Amino acid sequence: MSEKRETTPDPTAPTAPVLTRRAAVAGAGVAAVGVGLLAAGCAGGGSGGGSGGGSGGSGGSVSASGSGGGAAPADGAPAAGGPLGPASSVPVGGAAVFPNQKVIVTQPTAGTYRGFSAVCPHQGCTVTGVQGASLVCPCHGSTFGLQGQLEKGPATRGLTPQNVTVSGGQITLA
Ligand code: FES
Repeated sequence: MSEKRETTPDPTAPTAPVLTRRAAVAGAGVAAVGVGLLAAGCAGGGSGGGSGGGSGGSGGSVSASGSGGGAAPADGAPAAGGPLGPASSVPVGGAAVFPNQKVIVTQPTAGTYRGFSAVCPHQGCTVTGVQGASLVCPCHGSTFGLQGQLEKGPATRGLTPQNVTVSGGQITLA
């Protein structure tokens, strides 16, 4: 069945191999040059990639932070200044805790306001409990009076005074 195809002459056949051969030679030359360039490119690319990776690594080592967040008082001293809240939140003969500022304001007698650091002198917990005229630390149960004095340990001293002012019905941390 294939004999009929082999006997059929193709008039375009003689020219095709010549063009193909030239193209092949030219292509080989281009290919050879291309290989040379690729080899040179590989050598250069290798060193470039290495230095790039090194500089990228140094960029990821920045970790400076916490200068603002570390402002929590280490010795019972709240951040200075700023409004605390309305004076009406402090009952006569009682106290109000401002936990964000770590400040306690008491009003032992009508119109007399006293400010204290809410940081417990025992181990630094925030004194948040107000039971009548007593300020209670939730950690170990130390209690303090409205003048900041120690009522019951394990703390061994009273609360640290904080200057507060009352003006226009607002308490401000001095
Ligand atoms: Fe307040 Fe211990 S930290 S009683």
